[in-house]
Amino acid sequence: MDRKWLRSTVTDLQLYYNPNIQGSPLRMDTNTNPLGENPACKQALKECLDMDLEQYPSTYGDKLRQELANFYNLHRDNFVVGNGSDEVLDILFKTFMEPGGNVVMAYPAYSLHGWFAIVNGGGAVEVDLKPNFQLDVDAMLRAKGNLVIVCTPNNPTSNTFKKDDVLRLVEESKRPVVVDEAYGEFAGESFIPLVDKYPNLIVTRTFSKAYALAGMRIGYAVSNKEMTLAMQKVKIPYSLNKVAEHIGVKALQDQEFVRKTVSVVNSERKRLEKGLTDLGFHVFPSEANFILFRCPRDSAETVKRLAVKHVLIRDFGKKRMLENCARTTIGTREQNDELLLRLGEVMKEWL
Ligand SMILES: Cc1ncc(COP(=O)(O)O)c(C=O)c1O
Repeated sequence: MDRKWLRSTVTDLQLYYNPNIQGSPLRMDTNTNPLGENPACKQALKECLDMDLEQYPSTYGDKLRQELANFYNLHRDNFVVGNGSDEVLDILFKTFMEPGGNVVMAYPAYSLHGWFAIVNGGGAVEVDLKPNFQLDVDAMLRAKGNLVIVCTPNNPTSNTFKKDDVLRLVEESKRPVVVDEAYGEFAGESFIPLVDKYPNLIVTRTFSKAYALAGMRIGYAVSNKEMTLAMQKVKIPYSLNKVAEHIGVKALQDQEFVRKTVSVVNSERKRLEKGLTDLGFHVFPSEANFILFRCPRDSAETVKRLAVKHVLIRDFGKKRMLENCARTTIGTREQNDELLLRLGEVMKEWL
């Protein structure tokens, strides 16, 4: 293919993380829910057998938006729902970033934030986090761009940002500020209650993590009604399919599962942190369902050797500021024990 055929914005793009999965390894590489299937799912899927699938879903996913409104005590029009929070993030860039414009984002952060900017014909101005992985608010305020995005807890560093720092960004930015709360349930703190207070605040969340529905692809944005109306005009109509919408509604009604997930993750976090430290890894403080740690030896090789033992974690060691770092999901007790056992073997066998 002639590279000239490609849009200039996409010529340097790489494929996304796409591991070659052999058999059924222990997946601790994608920050999904360790408890397995959401119990609301099976019954909800049975109910879907009687759905009129020859008809389109509602244009904007109204049932799920209403259920979210009930849950958060807001209005349906405060919500935009989509095919994973990745779709919702894409909508945000299409709505608020000029072609040729920029997003201001922290570094290191969720890599797709910068990718959305590029595929939508813009660029990313990355502002380094401070050495303690907190926001450099002054530098972010100075940086030029059409919108600002931060994710807290931050992926992959796993810490939350100070609430006052994020609020200062919102109050002083004079442009849309997106707070990606994909892991918000684990941190127990949210900016959602503030969406009607600030004209420029948008919060995104997902059903992929605490709700164990990554395979269903459900996410949402919350903001004031003027901002969500602009976003709805950009969103691909019907993008949330009927089955996903129904399961999302039922999952939201089952908060017991979310509570249990958060409780398992919180108690296992301490154990896993200790286990990793005992094996000689440097652990960074986590408030999410994953842990970032620095390896005493080459992280890519560590991750590769662990994969041979059927445990997958994610390497970040080639990234600036994350040299020799890897990230693991926090699993159940059994999963964490297996991870620690195999990591211990890897380190021992390394001559
Ligand atoms: C920070 C962050 N935002 C958004 C997403 C995307 O989530 P979803 O599965 O809802 O598209 C992820 C997924 O890992 C993430 O880590």
